Amino acid sequence: MIDLLLGLQWGDEGKGKIVDVLTKNYDIIARFQGGPNAGHTLIFDGNKHVLHTIPSGIFHKNAINIVGNGVVIDPVIFKRELENLSKYNIDFKSKLLISRKAHIILPTHRLLDAASETMKGKAKIGSTLKGIGPTYMDKTGRNGFRIGDLDFDNWKNKYQKLAKKHLKLIDFYDIDIQFDLNELESEFFEAIEVLKKLTFIDSEEYINNALNNGKTILAEGAQGSLLDVDFGTYPYVTSSNTTAAGACTGLGVAPNKIGEVFGIFKAYVTRVGSGPFPTELFDEDGKTMSKVGHEFGATTGRPRRCGWLDLVALKYAVQINGVSQLMMMKGDVLSGFETLKACTSYNYKGKEISYLPYNIEEDNVSVNYTKVNGWKEDLTKMTKADELPKNLNDYISFIENFVNVPIKIVSVGPDRKQTIMK
Ligand code: GDP
Ligand code: IMO
Ligand code: MG
Repeated sequence: MIDLLLGLQWGDEGKGKIVDVLTKNYDIIARFQGGPNAGHTLIFDGNKHVLHTIPSGIFHKNAINIVGNGVVIDPVIFKRELENLSKYNIDFKSKLLISRKAHIILPTHRLLDAASETMKGKAKIGSTLKGIGPTYMDKTGRNGFRIGDLDFDNWKNKYQKLAKKHLKLIDFYDIDIQFDLNELESEFFEAIEVLKKLTFIDSEEYINNALNNGKTILAEGAQGSLLDVDFGTYPYVTSSNTTAAGACTGLGVAPNKIGEVFGIFKAYVTRVGSGPFPTELFDEDGKTMSKVGHEFGATTGRPRRCGWLDLVALKYAVQINGVSQLMMMKGDVLSGFETLKACTSYNYKGKEISYLPYNIEEDNVSVNYTKVNGWKEDLTKMTKADELPKNLNDYISFIENFVNVPIKIVSVGPDRKQTIMK
């Protein structure tokens, strides 16, 4: 069976940490969507690693890591990721496999991302500027440049045809955008040569064979459900399906092969980039979350917006994904709050509702909170479920009752070891 691990909010829930913790139970870890817009942080043995494209199982000898067909790869960033891991003596050739059907991010995709954002002005998405949107546009527009193209001698012609189109589009945007194409291309071509040393596979075949042979697979989501291109807060979303269905299309596995669906969420909510955020805090409470939780983007370094847990949105994400087990992260950050609040309904067009409507912009939606008693204890040294304070257990039960799914892991710090199984 293949299990899925999916972020249920606006990303940065702690997916990287938990994939790393769970990898010992799996033969294969596979990314199925997104690209280097992701930043997945792993902390162990006093070291911190941020992975962008490489799956978070890479530090474990037992597992093969696959970059699936649904992922978009920037060779330049990929090369840098490999370099950052060089001291670990990982045998990338056998441990890191790349789908031939994954699409490649060109330097000009990044320029187009920037041009599009500039044109939008105040309405910009707040994208990570990694070229994600334009690359998926070329994929669905049937113009994309794929990893498998590199197996053929004429790949540079394909590249050039697409890059030429992009340069025309950049002209069309009519904005001042400075770049040195020669420099960008030499860096890109150099990185392609590094990529070509890795193993390219027909990943859908590989993965289905593995499943037929009884291997266990964990699919690692990127971003979160509220950034899903269909079900997120459109247009302030990313350009892929971050939800469970995305694992089927992003790896080539059938829905009936899916086992557990692990849904991961923070005990509060963060969002980086633009877009609606009904429970956002602008007061001292929000500042405390930001400070104690070190809420800065792992990819862009931008401050993350913070707010109370939104149970309406969480329930929606649980439903869309068919979540079977929950994992609650960063409860330690809330230690010391006298009272916690959780959003349990919205006011929308004069009615109280408990689902996510078409538009959750501030003008349409206001929130109703339920108050819960906070806890004072420092959780970060706790290792067992029976050490958790009563008020935290009450918070957990309250969430479980609202969304109707059990919380099986409580994370009490960023380190691999700060993970409590319930
Ligand atoms: P991802 O994108 O979902 O993998 O998450 P990120 O790595 O972008 O952001 C999660 C951040 O929270 C990282 O800095 C982690 O080291 C940190 N983190 C993860 N779990 C916990 C936790 O339980 N407590 C605290 N304090 N930090 C955590
Ligand atoms: P991980 O996997 C948080 C956000 C961006 C922006 C929007 C679109 O680390 O959780 P894009 O570059 O995808 O076109 O940006 O999505 N975003 C993320 N926010 N975590 C991420 O990934 C994100 N990836 C994209 O900030 O608002
Ligand atoms: Mg992240």
